[in-house]
Amino acid sequence: MFSRRLNWRAHDNALSQALASHKPRYDLTASNPTTCGLDIPAAIAASFDHREALVYTPDPRGLAKAREAIGLGEHSLLAASTSEAYAWLFKLLCDPGDEVLVPRPSYPLFEFLGQLECVNVRQYSLRYAEGWWLDFESLKNAITPRTRALLFVHPNNPTGQFLKKQELDHLAALCAEKRIALISDEVFAEYPLIDDETRCATLGGNGRCLTFVLGGLSKTAGLPQMKIAWLTASGPGASEAARALELIADTYLSVSTPVQLAVPALLHHGAAIRAQIQQRTRANFARVRREALHVEGGWYVTIPTPRSRTEDEWTIALLIEHGVLTQPGYFYDFESDGWLVISLLTPEADFEAGLSAISYSLRNS
Ligand SMILES: Cc1ncc(COP(=O)(O)O)c(C=O)c1O
Repeated sequence: MFSRRLNWRAHDNALSQALASHKPRYDLTASNPTTCGLDIPAAIAASFDHREALVYTPDPRGLAKAREAIGLGEHSLLAASTSEAYAWLFKLLCDPGDEVLVPRPSYPLFEFLGQLECVNVRQYSLRYAEGWWLDFESLKNAITPRTRALLFVHPNNPTGQFLKKQELDHLAALCAEKRIALISDEVFAEYPLIDDETRCATLGGNGRCLTFVLGGLSKTAGLPQMKIAWLTASGPGASEAARALELIADTYLSVSTPVQLAVPALLHHGAAIRAQIQQRTRANFARVRREALHVEGGWYVTIPTPRSRTEDEWTIALLIEHGVLTQPGYFYDFESDGWLVISLLTPEADFEAGLSAISYSLRNS
């Protein structure tokens, strides 16, 4: 009766089953910035008090006031979320059955976002050797005549790796040669954990291939509930792409007027929330860095586990024996077993207690 796009089996995994009977004392998977003990300014509520919101004057690219406050240029438009921006880009670039390349490990939603647009998601590998790097061999092997876009998350979730200038040179040359668009998800860009001169500031404006950069209030201001994100096209074909995206956006006009009028105030208050997130993620990072894989930015770290237990066994043992909730690496499609992912957004005291229990447990396995 329903479309094959929705052929998802929403089955329980071992961790969700264990969670049904064990409430965690220390949740080291916290990733919702509005519920993890940050000081969210109450004045945010007043940001929506605008008489102009009583009149509907839609602009598919987003209202000028909001666009200017964000600092968007001419080939940019607003969307309700980065997820929606991905959906628009897949509609723009792909026919049903076409392919997009995504990094592995990375953000698990790509598979679903692709399926909903009838787009096949193929993975290329990120490899770890004292730091994460992009495996160009696997990337080249993943390209087929149906490849339309290549996604990179800058910095990636959960590996925390930024693309390096040298890697961008290769990537842009490859995309230009194969006529593939480059999509850079930069929602975590304002959360570097270490300095590195070799990283790209942004993939936007590289000029060598059609490039789309995504950002949004959900991470930059820690306000995912406000539902505002943006995308900017640059490089060859950017103005045609922006015109076509405008048509797509015009079909939905999904970004509400009240939130657009609130953007200047949300950015203002969001700066205070961002500063708290930066402080917390850096403090937790300082605590965990010797026990985790090298990470450069973002909200997550990866901890290697001994092979005496599988990831599922580790996450369940930590939950049942110590009340600590973590995520197994396979949630993010790590290529091998043996990883736990934890969130640096966790309140510091919980992070400290949870991490001590993890370290004790891993040492005494
Ligand atoms: C890589 C990445 N992109 C985008 C998002 C979500 O953004 P939005 O709330 O704007 O859809 C997330 C959320 O965790 C993410 O990890």
